Amino acid sequence: MNSKVNDIKERAQIADLSGAIKTILPALEQFNCFEGQDKTVFNKDDWQKKLDESLPQSGVGIKGVLKELNETVIPNGLRNGAPGFSGWITTAPTVVGASAGLASMVAGSQRVWNTSFNFLETLGLAWLKELLGIPTDWQGVFVSGGSVANIVGLTAARQWAFEQIGIDPAKEGLPAHKQWRIYGSSEVHHVIMRAAGVLGLGRQNVIAIPVDENQKIDLIQLRKILEEDQEKGIIPIALVASAGTVNTGVVDPINAMADMAKEFNAWLHVDGAYGLFGKLDPQVAHLYKGLERANSMAVDPHKWLAAPVGCGAAFVCDRSLLGRALTLEPAEYLEGSKGKGELKSPFDTFGDEYHEFGVAQSAPSRGVMVWAILKEMGAQGMRDRVIRHNNYARHLSARIKAEDRLEQVGDVELSICCFRYYQEGLSDKKLDELNELIATQLREKSLHVPSTTKVDEKIVIRPCFINSRTTIKEVGGLVDSVCTLGDEILRLDKKK
Ligand SMILES: Cc1ncc(COP(=O)(O)O)c(C=O)c1O
Repeated sequence: MNSKVNDIKERAQIADLSGAIKTILPALEQFNCFEGQDKTVFNKDDWQKKLDESLPQSGVGIKGVLKELNETVIPNGLRNGAPGFSGWITTAPTVVGASAGLASMVAGSQRVWNTSFNFLETLGLAWLKELLGIPTDWQGVFVSGGSVANIVGLTAARQWAFEQIGIDPAKEGLPAHKQWRIYGSSEVHHVIMRAAGVLGLGRQNVIAIPVDENQKIDLIQLRKILEEDQEKGIIPIALVASAGTVNTGVVDPINAMADMAKEFNAWLHVDGAYGLFGKLDPQVAHLYKGLERANSMAVDPHKWLAAPVGCGAAFVCDRSLLGRALTLEPAEYLEGSKGKGELKSPFDTFGDEYHEFGVAQSAPSRGVMVWAILKEMGAQGMRDRVIRHNNYARHLSARIKAEDRLEQVGDVELSICCFRYYQEGLSDKKLDELNELIATQLREKSLHVPSTTKVDEKIVIRPCFINSRTTIKEVGGLVDSVCTLGDEILRLDKKK
């Protein structure tokens, strides 16, 4: 028999990583200067035409790819790390975060097996627990972001709630002829509804409890609904407290919700994707009272900690419960191929088995990013950042209050301050249109890029300060730009 193999040559370059990185580094450095106005959208026809081609059959080779990365892709990237960007709740990584992300991609391409990266998954989670006051015996797992962290927390809640009535939902599915509900304020992030949908609990079973005048869950309403539902025999799966709502950044009364969760035998999940880090600011640390009484939490290192996007974390009070909820069925190709006895290779064990506690089997190493960021600046560095950003929101609030043309809408607790340009005599509709237009023109004409939202039925401009590159200059600049643009729009309106 002819055993000659047609050994087709690998077409991808597999060596000289540094050569490739050196080629694109100047473009990345240039990008990170965030110079001038963001022209990406105006240049779209140009860069899209260059990129929009059919699947290459023979490939251009790495040089051609790097050239296009340099000339077309990187310069037209997302500038959410620019100092004036304060929109939504997102930012770009710091330098050490990006470096650790690269290290993860190259040398830690899976979080399991017995390597330094697997160890840093555990250490990164332990450091987050210590930093945020999460009980040390809770099981953590890195996930892709807040959406999945909330799914993981609510998966544990679902498991816990149904196990109480003798049902294993992960194994048997959800019971017929039973009713259940999840309770959170009307301000919970919309990923909570999606999580309920994904878990088969049903989006409509997430009950939106009205908020009080501070945009926090109304405890009287919550109690009323819990009592009514208890009468009807509805299973309370979980109470969801927001530790930093996405709209105004306020923290729900966690301790009182923990009392109620205990009284009504419900799980308490804290969505701290954005705001759990807010606890590091001594001025607002009291708002987090009772945090350790919760049963699960979501937190996003890719927000305030400035890890590269794709880095969230879930923490659950009971490791075995989380394991029952999310464990992979045993598979011979996995367990059977582990080593026996003394370790002779990193592949003889999976190390800490994070694939048993989340919804992904293959997953990148993310702990290395959290470890690198915290090692670089220490807990104090993160504390300083949070205090600085919360102070920006307070400073903004003071400027708004001193300015007749501006009106603050909602409270400032963390690093979000909602406000609008205001003029006496203008209808609510007109004010909404005016502020929407100001936000659009800010993006077009200035370097200040907040986003907008609706608070108390009013369209407001909503900067959220989590960006490591933002300084006090951008905060003042935002106020000035809003005033200038508002004045100008009204002046032109009058002329019409
Ligand atoms: C409070 C809160 N929860 C959940 C999420 C969703 O997180 P992610 O976008 O990382 O999936 C966000 C995102 O802004 C958030 O602010």
